[in-house]
Amino acid sequence: MAAAAASSKMILQPPVRSGREASVRTPVALFRSSPPLFSRNQASIKHSTRQFVGLKAAGQYFSSNFSRGDSYKLLEASVKTSQRKTLSKLTCSPGQARIVAYKVAVLGAAGGIGQPLSLLLKMSPLLSNLNLYDIANVKGVVADLGHCNTPAQKETTQAKGKAVLDWDFLLNKAVSGFTGPAELADSLKGVDLIIIPAGVPRKPGMTRDDLFNINAGIVKDLVEVAADTAPNALINVISNPVNSTVPIAAEILKQKGVYNPRKLFGVTTLDVVRANTFVAKQKNLRLIDVDVPVIGGHAGITILPLLSKARPAIEFSTQEIEELTVRIQNAGTEVVEAKAGAGSATLSMAYAGARFAESCIRALDGDPDVYECSYVQSELTELPFFASRLKLGKEGIEAFVHGDLNNLTEYEQKALEALKPELKASIQKGIEFVNRESAPLAV
Ligand SMILES: NC(=O)c1ccc[n+]([C@@H]2O[C@H](COP(=O)([O-])OP(=O)(O)OC[C@H]3O[C@@H](n4cnc5c(N)ncnc54)[C@H](O)[C@@H]3O)[C@@H](O)[C@H]2O)c1
Repeated sequence: MAAAAASSKMILQPPVRSGREASVRTPVALFRSSPPLFSRNQASIKHSTRQFVGLKAAGQYFSSNFSRGDSYKLLEASVKTSQRKTLSKLTCSPGQARIVAYKVAVLGAAGGIGQPLSLLLKMSPLLSNLNLYDIANVKGVVADLGHCNTPAQKETTQAKGKAVLDWDFLLNKAVSGFTGPAELADSLKGVDLIIIPAGVPRKPGMTRDDLFNINAGIVKDLVEVAADTAPNALINVISNPVNSTVPIAAEILKQKGVYNPRKLFGVTTLDVVRANTFVAKQKNLRLIDVDVPVIGGHAGITILPLLSKARPAIEFSTQEIEELTVRIQNAGTEVVEAKAGAGSATLSMAYAGARFAESCIRALDGDPDVYECSYVQSELTELPFFASRLKLGKEGIEAFVHGDLNNLTEYEQKALEALKPELKASIQKGIEFVNRESAPLAV
């Protein structure tokens, strides 16, 4: 059993290195076939590459990101022995390399979010298999993505305790397509993480709640099959209205007898990403240095950025607090209006979704330092679902960061009280939808 578990997660130990520390470079550069691998500006490039933390949350600086050490080691391990001589000088520093391989399914993979999200996931060395499901147009996405020689790879055999990576497998097979309800269950077999961006997006003038009638049924149908096929997987719900679709997913999982509240997440990372971006720009800070927890829900006034808890500690005027809060709450509408009928946020959402997915995978793999905000079943307030900062672990939610709700400013406290009725109604709407759908028909 233990051996099987180890093999399914594929862990390689880093080589013991001594003397000078090796350079860490981006994966792309490694695929260039011939030297020189560094330019004359190597020192500055190396420096800026080291500063780049990819999808990670600010303040977190792990080695398992696709843009840092692990992908480097993975690529080195992936290439044929004959090529290793060149690459051996470029390995990451001791203690950084730990290669993992998880299976992820994206449901709604051919959509505006699904496609760029799948691309970002394909770039992650943490994944062995990427299963793409949609009701249409998946084949093209799979053919397209399958040509990326990015680090996503598949474990093959075990030799003397070391996983052997199949270089040929990189080209196509790590990404698989599944079309239509008949193939949904197959797309979910053995996956560790299910990401759901399926459904219709907003058009100008619509609220997220206006999407309820279509998306509620889509999420319900997908989670029913997920409950039967991959009951232990983490589920990341992106489909709006998240304030209702997460309670819908919870009710379905309960009905199926497999609900684990630690494993069901509404993805609110985009609110955090936007808050970090707007605050950094307002205060002239480096984007990567800012971290603002965003609590509540994921629609209008239910989105509550806690600017008093921002890191680094930042002074805001009352006017700045009001303007930033409103902008963060309406940022989705900003994009919907700019796209003028062509949909809602897709690229920033794909980025945020990939960051959250990567955090989930790192946590599953035992990284002890993974914190993200997410909309989950919660006891932090009287509301049964609430977004807040969480510590993620091997079994999903490991702990709630209670401190974020202490010592709120008067403005935040009022905003928190103001959001509760709307959030409560959205939760109730989701629960009632499932109960109504599953009530026996009156004869
Ligand atoms: N959580 C967030 O922060 C956030 C941000 C932006 C958008 N969203 C939401 O994400 C969802 C998707 O947005 P988009 O821009 O990608 O929309 P889109 O219309 O571009 O893509 C949706 C995809 O879902 C597919 N789909 C529809 N029904 C399906 C089903 N039953 N099973 C599987 N796939 C199905 C469609 O074929 C399409 O490919 C929307 O609900 C949108 O409101 C959430």
